Amino acid sequence: MEKELLRELESLVGSEWVVSAKEAIEGYLYDETPPPLRPKASENVVVVKPRNAEEVSKILILANKRRIPIFPRGGGTGLAGACIPTMSGIVLSLERMNSITVDSENLMAEAEAGATLKDLIEAADKAGLSFPLHPGDEGAQIGGLIACNAGGARAVKTGIMRNCVKGLEVVLPTGEILRLGGKILKNNVGYDLMHLLIGSEGTLAIITKAWIKLQPRDAASATIVIPFEKREQALGMVPKIFQEGIIPLAVEYVERNLVEKVGKSLGLKWPCTSAEYQLMIILSEPSEDALLGVLEKLLGLCEKSGALEPIVAETRKEQDEILKIRSEIYSTLKPDMVDILDTTVPPARMIELIRIVNELEKKHGVYMPVYGHAGDGNLHVHLMKWDGWTDERYDELRRMIYEKTLELGGTITGEHGIGYLRKKYMEEVLEGKAIELMKAIKRIFDPNNILNPDKVLP
Ligand code: LAC
Ligand code: ZN
Repeated sequence: MEKELLRELESLVGSEWVVSAKEAIEGYLYDETPPPLRPKASENVVVVKPRNAEEVSKILILANKRRIPIFPRGGGTGLAGACIPTMSGIVLSLERMNSITVDSENLMAEAEAGATLKDLIEAADKAGLSFPLHPGDEGAQIGGLIACNAGGARAVKTGIMRNCVKGLEVVLPTGEILRLGGKILKNNVGYDLMHLLIGSEGTLAIITKAWIKLQPRDAASATIVIPFEKREQALGMVPKIFQEGIIPLAVEYVERNLVEKVGKSLGLKWPCTSAEYQLMIILSEPSEDALLGVLEKLLGLCEKSGALEPIVAETRKEQDEILKIRSEIYSTLKPDMVDILDTTVPPARMIELIRIVNELEKKHGVYMPVYGHAGDGNLHVHLMKWDGWTDERYDELRRMIYEKTLELGGTITGEHGIGYLRKKYMEEVLEGKAIELMKAIKRIFDPNNILNPDKVLP
Protein backbone atom coordinates (compact mmCIF):
# COMPACT_ATOMS: atom_id res chain seq x y z
CA MET A 1 0.00 0.00 0.00
CA GLU A 2 1.38 3.38 -0.87
CA LYS A 3 2.31 5.51 2.14
CA GLU A 4 0.34 8.50 0.96
CA LEU A 5 -2.93 6.55 0.81
CA LEU A 6 -2.36 5.15 4.31
CA ARG A 7 -1.77 8.68 5.61
CA GLU A 8 -4.92 9.98 3.95
CA LEU A 9 -6.97 7.13 5.45
CA GLU A 10 -5.44 7.82 8.85
CA SER A 11 -6.48 11.45 8.60
CA LEU A 12 -10.07 10.29 7.99
CA VAL A 13 -10.51 7.68 10.77
CA GLY A 14 -7.47 8.02 13.07
CA SER A 15 -4.20 6.08 12.74
CA GLU A 16 -5.26 3.42 15.24
CA TRP A 17 -8.01 2.30 12.86
CA VAL A 18 -5.93 1.86 9.72
CA VAL A 19 -4.24 -1.53 9.84
CA SER A 20 -1.74 -2.82 7.32
CA ALA A 21 0.75 -5.04 9.22
CA LYS A 22 0.75 -8.57 7.76
CA GLU A 23 -0.13 -10.37 11.02
CA ALA A 24 -2.87 -7.86 11.82
CA ILE A 25 -4.70 -8.21 8.51
CA GLU A 26 -4.56 -12.02 8.35
CA GLY A 27 -7.93 -12.42 10.08
CA TYR A 28 -9.60 -10.15 7.51
CA LEU A 29 -8.74 -12.02 4.33
CA TYR A 30 -11.08 -15.01 4.24
CA ASP A 31 -14.55 -16.16 5.28
CA GLU A 32 -15.98 -19.64 6.00
CA THR A 33 -15.88 -20.80 2.37
CA PRO A 34 -14.30 -24.29 2.09
CA PRO A 35 -10.57 -23.65 1.35
CA PRO A 36 -10.31 -25.84 -1.80
CA LEU A 37 -12.77 -23.53 -3.51
CA ARG A 38 -12.16 -20.04 -2.21
CA PRO A 39 -10.31 -17.46 -4.32
CA LYS A 40 -6.90 -16.30 -3.20
CA ALA A 41 -6.95 -13.08 -1.19
CA SER A 42 -4.61 -10.25 -2.11
CA GLU A 43 -2.19 -9.52 0.70
CA ASN A 44 -1.73 -5.98 -0.48
CA VAL A 45 -4.72 -4.65 1.44
CA VAL A 46 -5.30 -2.20 4.24
CA VAL A 47 -8.05 -2.76 6.81
CA VAL A 48 -9.93 0.41 7.74
CA LYS A 49 -12.36 0.60 10.66
CA PRO A 50 -14.64 3.65 10.52
CA ARG A 51 -16.74 4.80 13.47
CA ASN A 52 -19.84 6.12 11.72
CA ALA A 53 -21.59 6.61 8.37
CA GLU A 54 -19.85 9.97 7.84
CA GLU A 55 -16.43 8.32 8.05
CA VAL A 56 -17.60 5.53 5.71
CA SER A 57 -18.70 8.22 3.28
CA LYS A 58 -15.31 9.96 3.37
CA ILE A 59 -13.49 6.67 2.75
CA LEU A 60 -15.73 5.92 -0.23
CA ILE A 61 -15.28 9.40 -1.70
CA LEU A 62 -11.51 8.95 -1.50
CA ALA A 63 -11.63 5.43 -2.96
CA ASN A 64 -13.94 6.52 -5.74
CA LYS A 65 -11.67 9.41 -6.69
CA ARG A 66 -8.60 7.15 -6.73
CA ARG A 67 -10.40 4.08 -8.16
CA ILE A 68 -9.40 1.88 -5.21
CA PRO A 69 -11.42 -1.34 -4.70
CA ILE A 70 -13.37 -1.52 -1.42
CA PHE A 71 -14.22 -4.88 0.18
CA PRO A 72 -16.93 -4.52 2.86
CA ARG A 73 -16.48 -6.96 5.73
CA GLY A 74 -18.77 -8.10 8.53
CA GLY A 75 -18.21 -11.16 10.73
CA GLY A 76 -16.56 -13.15 7.92
CA THR A 77 -19.04 -16.02 8.28
CA GLY A 78 -20.13 -16.11 4.63
CA LEU A 79 -19.91 -19.27 2.53
CA ALA A 80 -19.50 -17.87 -0.98
CA GLY A 81 -16.36 -15.73 -0.71
CA ALA A 82 -18.30 -12.44 -1.00
CA CYS A 83 -16.00 -10.55 1.40
CA ILE A 84 -12.64 -11.92 0.26
CA PRO A 85 -10.40 -9.06 -1.02
CA THR A 86 -9.50 -10.65 -4.33
CA MET A 87 -7.45 -7.63 -5.42
CA SER A 88 -5.34 -4.95 -3.85
CA GLY A 89 -7.52 -2.39 -2.02
CA ILE A 90 -9.31 -1.49 1.21
CA VAL A 91 -11.08 -3.96 3.49
CA LEU A 92 -13.78 -1.90 5.18
CA SER A 93 -14.64 -3.46 8.52
CA LEU A 94 -17.77 -2.16 10.27
CA GLU A 95 -16.84 -3.84 13.58
CA ARG A 96 -16.64 -0.58 15.60
CA MET A 97 -20.19 0.40 14.64
CA ASN A 98 -21.97 -2.00 16.94
CA SER A 99 -24.65 -0.23 18.97
CA ILE A 100 -28.20 -1.58 19.25
CA THR A 101 -31.26 0.06 20.77
CA VAL A 102 -34.67 -1.57 21.04
CA ASP A 103 -37.97 0.29 20.70
CA SER A 104 -40.33 -2.08 22.53
CA GLU A 105 -43.47 -0.15 21.65
CA ASN A 106 -42.81 -0.55 17.94
CA LEU A 107 -41.15 -3.99 18.31
CA MET A 108 -38.16 -2.71 16.40
CA ALA A 109 -34.39 -2.85 16.87
CA GLU A 110 -32.15 -0.11 15.51
CA ALA A 111 -28.81 -1.82 14.95
CA GLU A 112 -25.54 -0.60 13.52
CA ALA A 113 -23.96 -2.81 10.87
CA GLY A 114 -21.13 -4.16 13.03
CA ALA A 115 -23.34 -5.44 15.87
CA THR A 116 -23.35 -9.23 15.91
CA LEU A 117 -26.24 -11.67 15.68
CA LYS A 118 -25.48 -12.55 19.31
CA ASP A 119 -25.78 -8.85 20.29
CA LEU A 120 -29.14 -8.62 18.52
CA ILE A 121 -30.53 -11.79 20.12
CA GLU A 122 -29.46 -10.55 23.57
CA ALA A 123 -30.76 -6.99 23.06
CA ALA A 124 -34.16 -8.33 21.96
CA ASP A 125 -34.26 -10.72 24.90
CA LYS A 126 -33.45 -7.96 27.39
CA ALA A 127 -36.40 -5.97 26.07
CA GLY A 128 -38.71 -8.98 26.53
CA LEU A 129 -38.86 -9.61 22.77
CA SER A 130 -37.13 -12.01 20.40
CA PHE A 131 -35.22 -12.16 17.14
CA PRO A 132 -36.12 -15.66 16.00
CA LEU A 133 -33.84 -16.06 12.97
CA HIS A 134 -30.68 -18.05 13.50
CA PRO A 135 -28.55 -18.13 10.36
CA GLY A 136 -25.75 -20.19 11.94
CA ASP A 137 -22.74 -18.49 13.48
CA GLU A 138 -23.69 -15.85 16.09
CA GLY A 139 -20.52 -13.90 15.25
CA ALA A 140 -22.16 -12.87 11.96
CA GLN A 141 -22.72 -9.11 11.82
CA ILE A 142 -25.98 -7.32 11.00
CA GLY A 143 -24.57 -5.63 7.88
CA GLY A 144 -23.38 -8.94 6.46
CA LEU A 145 -26.58 -10.79 7.38
CA ILE A 146 -28.57 -8.19 5.44
CA ALA A 147 -26.12 -7.77 2.56
CA CYS A 148 -26.21 -11.56 2.08
CA ASN A 149 -29.93 -11.93 2.92
CA ALA A 150 -29.17 -14.80 5.31
CA GLY A 151 -31.67 -17.55 6.08
CA GLY A 152 -30.79 -20.49 8.34
CA ALA A 153 -32.86 -23.03 10.21
CA ARG A 154 -35.36 -20.87 12.08
CA ALA A 155 -36.72 -19.03 9.04
CA VAL A 156 -39.92 -21.00 8.39
CA LYS A 157 -42.26 -18.98 10.59
CA THR A 158 -40.97 -15.42 10.28
CA GLY A 159 -39.09 -15.57 6.99
CA ILE A 160 -35.49 -14.76 6.14
CA MET A 161 -33.52 -11.53 6.76
CA ARG A 162 -35.36 -9.76 3.96
CA ASN A 163 -38.64 -10.24 5.78
CA CYS A 164 -37.33 -8.75 9.03
CA VAL A 165 -35.59 -5.61 7.73
CA LYS A 166 -37.82 -2.54 7.59
CA GLY A 167 -35.27 0.22 7.09
CA LEU A 168 -31.66 0.77 6.08
CA GLU A 169 -29.08 3.51 6.28
CA VAL A 170 -26.51 3.00 3.53
CA VAL A 171 -23.55 4.78 1.99
CA LEU A 172 -23.25 4.73 -1.79
CA PRO A 173 -19.90 4.15 -3.53
CA THR A 174 -20.04 7.81 -4.55
CA GLY A 175 -20.28 8.84 -0.89
CA GLU A 176 -23.94 9.87 -0.46
CA ILE A 177 -25.66 8.65 2.72
CA LEU A 178 -29.23 7.39 2.11
CA ARG A 179 -31.98 6.35 4.48
CA LEU A 180 -34.53 3.92 3.09
CA GLY A 181 -37.60 2.94 5.12
CA GLY A 182 -37.44 2.97 8.92
CA LYS A 183 -39.63 1.79 11.78
CA ILE A 184 -42.53 1.33 9.41
CA LEU A 185 -44.26 -1.88 8.47
CA LYS A 186 -45.67 -0.71 5.18
CA ASN A 187 -43.88 1.50 2.69
CA ASN A 188 -45.04 1.88 -0.86
CA VAL A 189 -43.08 4.83 -2.18
CA GLY A 190 -41.59 4.25 -5.61
CA TYR A 191 -39.16 1.48 -6.53
CA ASP A 192 -38.05 -0.49 -3.49
CA LEU A 193 -34.36 0.35 -3.30
CA MET A 194 -34.11 -1.13 0.20
CA HIS A 195 -35.02 -4.60 -1.04
CA LEU A 196 -32.64 -4.18 -3.99
CA LEU A 197 -29.80 -3.58 -1.54
CA ILE A 198 -30.77 -6.51 0.71
CA GLY A 199 -28.94 -9.48 -0.81
CA SER A 200 -26.70 -7.35 -3.07
CA GLU A 201 -23.66 -8.81 -1.25
CA GLY A 202 -21.81 -5.54 -0.78
CA THR A 203 -21.73 -4.64 -4.47
CA LEU A 204 -24.11 -1.65 -4.50
CA ALA A 205 -23.76 0.15 -1.15
CA ILE A 206 -22.33 -0.19 2.35
CA ILE A 207 -25.03 -0.87 4.94
CA THR A 208 -24.30 1.17 8.09
CA LYS A 209 -27.51 0.80 10.09
CA ALA A 210 -30.76 -1.19 9.98
CA TRP A 211 -34.21 -1.20 11.52
CA ILE A 212 -35.16 -4.78 12.24
CA LYS A 213 -38.58 -6.13 13.19
CA LEU A 214 -38.64 -8.13 16.42
CA GLN A 215 -41.24 -10.64 17.59
CA PRO A 216 -43.05 -11.15 20.88
CA ARG A 217 -41.26 -13.78 22.92
CA ASP A 218 -43.02 -17.13 22.78
CA ALA A 219 -43.66 -18.68 26.16
CA ALA A 220 -43.39 -22.31 25.10
CA SER A 221 -41.30 -24.26 22.66
CA ALA A 222 -40.45 -27.88 21.87
CA THR A 223 -38.06 -29.63 19.51
CA ILE A 224 -39.36 -32.84 17.96
CA VAL A 225 -37.15 -35.31 16.16
CA ILE A 226 -39.15 -37.66 13.93
CA PRO A 227 -37.53 -40.83 12.53
CA PHE A 228 -38.58 -42.61 9.34
CA GLU A 229 -37.41 -45.80 7.69
CA LYS A 230 -37.76 -44.30 4.24
CA ARG A 231 -36.50 -40.96 3.02
CA GLU A 232 -39.68 -40.57 0.93
CA GLN A 233 -41.77 -40.70 4.10
CA ALA A 234 -39.69 -38.04 5.85
CA LEU A 235 -39.70 -35.55 3.00
CA GLY A 236 -43.26 -36.49 2.05
CA MET A 237 -44.48 -35.31 5.45
CA VAL A 238 -43.10 -31.77 5.01
CA PRO A 239 -45.88 -30.31 2.81
CA LYS A 240 -48.52 -31.98 5.01
CA ILE A 241 -47.27 -30.07 8.07
CA PHE A 242 -48.17 -26.79 6.37
CA GLN A 243 -51.40 -28.15 4.91
CA GLU A 244 -52.46 -29.01 8.47
CA GLY A 245 -51.95 -25.34 9.40
CA ILE A 246 -48.93 -26.03 11.60
CA ILE A 247 -46.29 -23.27 11.23
CA PRO A 248 -43.12 -24.38 13.01
CA LEU A 249 -40.11 -22.15 13.62
CA ALA A 250 -37.91 -24.72 11.86
CA VAL A 251 -38.35 -27.87 9.74
CA GLU A 252 -34.97 -29.50 9.11
CA TYR A 253 -34.09 -32.74 7.32
CA VAL A 254 -31.14 -34.73 8.68
CA GLU A 255 -29.73 -38.24 8.35
CA ARG A 256 -28.79 -40.26 11.40
CA ASN A 257 -25.25 -41.29 10.42
CA LEU A 258 -24.31 -37.64 10.01
CA VAL A 259 -25.86 -36.13 13.16
CA GLU A 260 -24.54 -39.00 15.28
CA LYS A 261 -21.03 -38.33 14.01
CA VAL A 262 -21.35 -34.58 14.66
CA GLY A 263 -22.79 -35.22 18.15
CA LYS A 264 -19.84 -37.46 19.00
CA SER A 265 -17.34 -34.83 17.87
CA LEU A 266 -19.04 -32.29 20.17
CA GLY A 267 -19.30 -34.64 23.14
CA LEU A 268 -23.11 -34.66 22.78
CA LYS A 269 -25.61 -37.36 21.92
CA TRP A 270 -28.19 -37.13 19.15
CA PRO A 271 -31.39 -38.23 20.90
CA CYS A 272 -33.04 -40.22 18.13
CA THR A 273 -31.45 -43.45 16.92
CA SER A 274 -34.31 -45.60 15.70
CA ALA A 275 -34.13 -44.85 11.96
CA GLU A 276 -31.93 -43.18 9.37
CA TYR A 277 -34.12 -40.45 7.86
CA GLN A 278 -35.29 -37.75 10.24
CA LEU A 279 -37.11 -34.45 10.50
CA MET A 280 -36.17 -32.02 13.24
CA ILE A 281 -39.00 -29.63 13.98
CA ILE A 282 -39.00 -26.65 16.36
CA LEU A 283 -42.40 -25.48 17.57
CA SER A 284 -42.70 -22.12 19.27
CA GLU A 285 -46.05 -20.91 20.58
CA PRO A 286 -47.35 -18.09 22.82
CA SER A 287 -48.53 -20.44 25.62
CA GLU A 288 -48.13 -23.99 26.95
CA ASP A 289 -51.73 -24.75 25.96
CA ALA A 290 -51.17 -23.54 22.41
CA LEU A 291 -48.00 -25.63 22.21
CA LEU A 292 -49.79 -28.75 23.40
CA GLY A 293 -52.52 -28.23 20.81
CA VAL A 294 -50.02 -27.92 17.94
CA LEU A 295 -47.91 -30.79 19.28
CA GLU A 296 -50.94 -33.08 19.35
CA LYS A 297 -51.73 -32.22 15.74
CA LEU A 298 -48.12 -32.83 14.72
CA LEU A 299 -47.90 -36.20 16.50
CA GLY A 300 -51.15 -37.26 14.82
CA LEU A 301 -49.64 -36.37 11.48
CA CYS A 302 -46.48 -38.35 12.28
CA GLU A 303 -48.57 -41.46 12.77
CA LYS A 304 -50.43 -40.94 9.50
CA SER A 305 -47.12 -40.38 7.71
CA GLY A 306 -45.58 -43.69 8.77
CA ALA A 307 -43.07 -42.26 11.28
CA LEU A 308 -41.55 -44.35 14.06
CA GLU A 309 -41.74 -43.03 17.67
CA PRO A 310 -40.82 -39.28 17.72
CA ILE A 311 -38.59 -37.79 20.41
CA VAL A 312 -40.04 -34.66 22.07
CA ALA A 313 -37.47 -32.41 23.78
CA GLU A 314 -38.95 -29.75 26.04
CA THR A 315 -36.18 -28.59 28.37
CA ARG A 316 -34.05 -25.67 27.18
CA LYS A 317 -30.89 -27.77 27.54
CA GLU A 318 -32.12 -30.69 25.42
CA GLN A 319 -33.42 -28.35 22.74
CA ASP A 320 -30.21 -26.31 22.65
CA GLU A 321 -28.14 -29.49 22.29
CA ILE A 322 -30.18 -30.70 19.34
CA LEU A 323 -29.89 -27.32 17.60
CA LYS A 324 -26.18 -27.18 18.42
CA ILE A 325 -25.59 -30.56 16.72
CA ARG A 326 -27.63 -29.48 13.70
CA SER A 327 -25.78 -26.15 13.49
CA GLU A 328 -22.34 -27.78 13.63
CA ILE A 329 -22.82 -30.23 10.76
CA TYR A 330 -21.10 -27.84 8.37
CA SER A 331 -18.03 -27.17 10.50
CA THR A 332 -17.64 -30.89 11.25
CA LEU A 333 -17.67 -31.80 7.57
CA LYS A 334 -15.58 -28.80 6.49
CA PRO A 335 -12.06 -30.31 6.78
CA ASP A 336 -13.00 -33.06 4.29
CA MET A 337 -15.18 -30.90 2.09
CA VAL A 338 -14.67 -29.44 -1.36
CA ASP A 339 -17.96 -27.53 -1.63
CA ILE A 340 -21.31 -27.01 0.06
CA LEU A 341 -24.16 -26.56 -2.39
CA ASP A 342 -27.20 -24.47 -1.52
CA THR A 343 -29.75 -25.90 -3.95
CA THR A 344 -33.38 -24.94 -3.45
CA VAL A 345 -36.37 -26.58 -5.10
CA PRO A 346 -40.15 -26.42 -4.66
CA PRO A 347 -40.51 -28.27 -1.32
CA ALA A 348 -42.57 -31.13 -2.76
CA ARG A 349 -39.72 -31.94 -5.18
CA MET A 350 -36.89 -32.34 -2.63
CA ILE A 351 -37.14 -36.09 -2.85
CA GLU A 352 -36.40 -36.00 -6.58
CA LEU A 353 -33.31 -33.87 -5.97
CA ILE A 354 -31.96 -36.26 -3.32
CA ARG A 355 -32.62 -39.23 -5.57
CA ILE A 356 -30.54 -37.63 -8.30
CA VAL A 357 -27.71 -36.94 -5.84
CA ASN A 358 -27.81 -40.59 -4.70
CA GLU A 359 -27.68 -41.85 -8.27
CA LEU A 360 -24.63 -39.67 -8.94
CA GLU A 361 -22.99 -40.92 -5.72
CA LYS A 362 -23.41 -44.55 -6.83
CA LYS A 363 -22.38 -43.96 -10.42
CA HIS A 364 -19.24 -41.97 -9.57
CA GLY A 365 -18.33 -43.69 -6.29
CA VAL A 366 -18.37 -40.46 -4.26
CA TYR A 367 -19.90 -39.38 -0.92
CA MET A 368 -22.26 -36.38 -1.05
CA PRO A 369 -24.19 -36.10 2.23
CA VAL A 370 -27.38 -34.03 2.16
CA TYR A 371 -29.23 -32.16 4.90
CA GLY A 372 -31.00 -28.87 5.11
CA HIS A 373 -33.90 -26.55 5.58
CA ALA A 374 -36.67 -28.86 4.40
CA GLY A 375 -39.41 -26.36 5.29
CA ASP A 376 -37.95 -24.03 2.66
CA GLY A 377 -36.98 -26.70 0.09
CA ASN A 378 -33.37 -25.62 0.67
CA LEU A 379 -31.00 -28.61 0.74
CA HIS A 380 -27.24 -28.49 1.26
CA VAL A 381 -25.50 -31.15 -0.82
CA HIS A 382 -21.87 -31.59 0.23
CA LEU A 383 -19.13 -32.48 -2.19
CA MET A 384 -16.65 -34.41 -0.04
CA LYS A 385 -13.00 -35.11 -0.85
CA TRP A 386 -12.00 -38.56 -2.06
CA ASP A 387 -8.61 -39.98 -3.06
CA GLY A 388 -7.82 -38.47 -6.40
CA TRP A 389 -10.62 -35.86 -6.52
CA THR A 390 -9.99 -33.04 -8.95
CA ASP A 391 -11.60 -29.68 -9.62
CA GLU A 392 -12.67 -30.95 -13.04
CA ARG A 393 -14.44 -34.04 -11.69
CA TYR A 394 -16.36 -32.01 -9.16
CA ASP A 395 -17.10 -29.30 -11.67
CA GLU A 396 -18.80 -31.96 -13.75
CA LEU A 397 -20.81 -33.35 -10.82
CA ARG A 398 -21.81 -29.88 -9.62
CA ARG A 399 -23.01 -28.97 -13.09
CA MET A 400 -25.15 -32.14 -13.27
CA ILE A 401 -26.74 -31.38 -9.89
CA TYR A 402 -27.40 -27.76 -10.89
CA GLU A 403 -28.91 -28.82 -14.21
CA LYS A 404 -31.33 -31.20 -12.47
CA THR A 405 -32.14 -28.59 -9.81
CA LEU A 406 -33.14 -26.12 -12.51
CA GLU A 407 -35.19 -28.81 -14.28
CA LEU A 408 -37.08 -29.33 -11.01
CA GLY A 409 -37.98 -25.63 -11.01
CA GLY A 410 -35.31 -24.81 -8.43
CA THR A 411 -32.33 -22.54 -8.15
CA ILE A 412 -28.64 -22.83 -7.27
CA THR A 413 -28.59 -20.78 -4.07
CA GLY A 414 -31.35 -20.22 -1.54
CA GLU A 415 -29.40 -18.54 1.24
CA HIS A 416 -25.61 -18.54 0.80
CA GLY A 417 -25.60 -16.26 -2.24
CA ILE A 418 -23.48 -15.88 -5.36
CA GLY A 419 -20.42 -14.10 -3.89
CA TYR A 420 -17.34 -15.09 -5.82
CA LEU A 421 -17.97 -18.83 -6.15
CA ARG A 422 -21.15 -18.92 -8.18
CA LYS A 423 -20.61 -16.02 -10.60
CA LYS A 424 -19.80 -18.49 -13.35
CA TYR A 425 -23.25 -20.08 -13.13
CA MET A 426 -25.26 -16.85 -13.30
CA GLU A 427 -25.68 -17.11 -17.07
CA GLU A 428 -27.15 -20.59 -16.73
CA VAL A 429 -29.68 -19.53 -14.10
CA LEU A 430 -30.80 -16.13 -15.32
CA GLU A 431 -31.95 -14.81 -18.67
CA GLY A 432 -29.49 -12.56 -20.51
CA LYS A 433 -31.82 -9.60 -20.11
CA ALA A 434 -31.91 -10.03 -16.32
CA ILE A 435 -28.11 -9.98 -16.16
CA GLU A 436 -28.02 -6.96 -18.46
CA LEU A 437 -30.39 -5.11 -16.09
CA MET A 438 -28.29 -6.09 -13.08
CA LYS A 439 -25.12 -4.81 -14.75
CA ALA A 440 -26.84 -1.53 -15.62
CA ILE A 441 -27.99 -1.15 -11.99
CA LYS A 442 -24.44 -1.80 -10.80
CA ARG A 443 -23.14 0.97 -13.11
CA ILE A 444 -25.70 3.47 -11.78
CA PHE A 445 -24.82 2.79 -8.13
CA ASP A 446 -21.10 2.33 -8.67
CA PRO A 447 -19.96 4.06 -11.88
CA ASN A 448 -16.27 3.32 -11.28
CA ASN A 449 -16.80 -0.27 -10.11
CA ILE A 450 -14.97 0.17 -6.80
CA LEU A 451 -17.36 -1.66 -4.48
CA ASN A 452 -16.69 -5.41 -4.17
CA PRO A 453 -15.77 -5.23 -7.85
CA ASP A 454 -15.50 -8.88 -8.83
CA LYS A 455 -18.44 -10.35 -6.94
CA VAL A 456 -21.94 -11.49 -7.92
CA LEU A 457 -22.00 -10.37 -11.57
CA PRO A 458 -20.31 -12.55 -14.20
C1 LAC B 1 -26.37 -24.75 7.49
C2 LAC B 1 -25.49 -23.73 6.86
C3 LAC B 1 -24.24 -24.32 6.32
O1 LAC B 1 -27.50 -24.88 7.11
O2 LAC B 1 -26.16 -23.01 5.88
O3 LAC B 1 -25.90 -25.43 8.41
ZN1 ZN C 1 -28.18 -23.57 5.67
